Amino acid sequence: MPKYEMILILDFGGHDTQSIARKIRKLGVYSEIVPYHISVEKIIIKKPQGIILATSIDSVSAETVAEVKAELLELDMPILVIGEQVEKEVESLKDFLFEKCHCVGEWSMDSLIQVQIALIREKVGKSKVLCALSGGVDSSVAAVLVHKAIGSQLTCVFVDHGFLRKGEAEKVKATFQEQFQMNLVFVDARERFLQKITGVSDPEQKRKIIGTEFIRVFEDEAQKLGQIDFLVQGTVYPDVLESGTGIGGTIKSHHNVGGLPEDMGFQLIEPLRQLFKDEVREVGRKLGIPEEIVNRQPFPGPGLAIRIIGEITAEKLSILREADAIVLEEIRKAGLYDSIWQSFAVLPSIRSVGVKDKERTYAYPIILRAVTSVDAMTATCARLPYVLLEQIANRIVQEVPQVNRVVYDITSKPPGTIEWE
Ligand code: XMP
Repeated sequence: MPKYEMILILDFGGHDTQSIARKIRKLGVYSEIVPYHISVEKIIIKKPQGIILATSIDSVSAETVAEVKAELLELDMPILVIGEQVEKEVESLKDFLFEKCHCVGEWSMDSLIQVQIALIREKVGKSKVLCALSGGVDSSVAAVLVHKAIGSQLTCVFVDHGFLRKGEAEKVKATFQEQFQMNLVFVDARERFLQKITGVSDPEQKRKIIGTEFIRVFEDEAQKLGQIDFLVQGTVYPDVLESGTGIGGTIKSHHNVGGLPEDMGFQLIEPLRQLFKDEVREVGRKLGIPEEIVNRQPFPGPGLAIRIIGEITAEKLSILREADAIVLEEIRKAGLYDSIWQSFAVLPSIRSVGVKDKERTYAYPIILRAVTSVDAMTATCARLPYVLLEQIANRIVQEVPQVNRVVYDITSKPPGTIEWE
């Protein structure tokens, strides 16, 4: 089985641990973060080329660091202790990797793709594999990578729950069915979801209904396909760290609609488990996935359903879909799409008075939301130019007849959240 050179990073809870891991990877050596109290036996199993203690004066005492280091000495392996300031450490990092640990530095996204393809083939054999494709970056890259390994043994299921943005379902079909020639089961479940969600206005209730229904639809489709042993999941490294590999990690507050229950009896294939988001994007580009998918802003699993405040109707969905498409089109045109974390429209369940062609109108407002962020835990309102804001507002009120007003949400997170529900 292929094996990478690997540096193990013992996390003492500092802010720089992930940054150290990335710097090592950028130097061509795979790195993995583990809690500082990992047992010596587990380290031996992982066979790293060297160990870095990413210490932090904030969270762990100097005595603890010294104790851990003393224990590791019996491994007879190169050890480096980094002080908080990783920026100043690149030279010593290089010296450690290439002089002390004798690394060659061949880790790259090309080598990762080759290794993953070999591993997937070995694991799967002749079995059938299933993937819940959402059209987001992670599931798309995972699906294409697995497809490259096992071709038609993979079937992707895409569920159109009716809360997608304009043109999204078509884009998924064009990319995965036509461009990549993948087996794609496209489920039009719009009516089924709308029936379930009608009359529901509580946000958590909406999430629950959509999540449960998604699993039902997926199970139905999986059953039709006969014996399937493996399921592809687009788990990425931050998910792994958040679920408790690091110390002091935060617990994820949102679950993707694609989060399937464990009792479905599949073995998991998670080819992106080791990768940070920018690495996932690089893999996607190397696999030829269109930039529009690779660089996509995050989009919540329940989609437009949590951007219509209160009760959802088919009419409201169509109003929001049109307004949202205008927002994204103008943001793209202004060249700002990539520098904004998320930009979208929200439809509240209120109406206000306006005037059009000398007639009084009584119509919905659209709330425009655009934020900058690094990890969605905190966010700041994006300072969009006034001309752009005006262009978006003018287009929406002209092109979407049920809307007569556009407002811009300038709240940060906290105290606001990115989404309105
Ligand atoms: P908030 O609104 O809490 O959102 O600031 C933080 C990030 O999570 C996304 N989000 C969700 N993603 N299912 C998801 O898959 C959800 O129910 C959900 N709710 C929020 C949100 O778009 C932002 O990126």
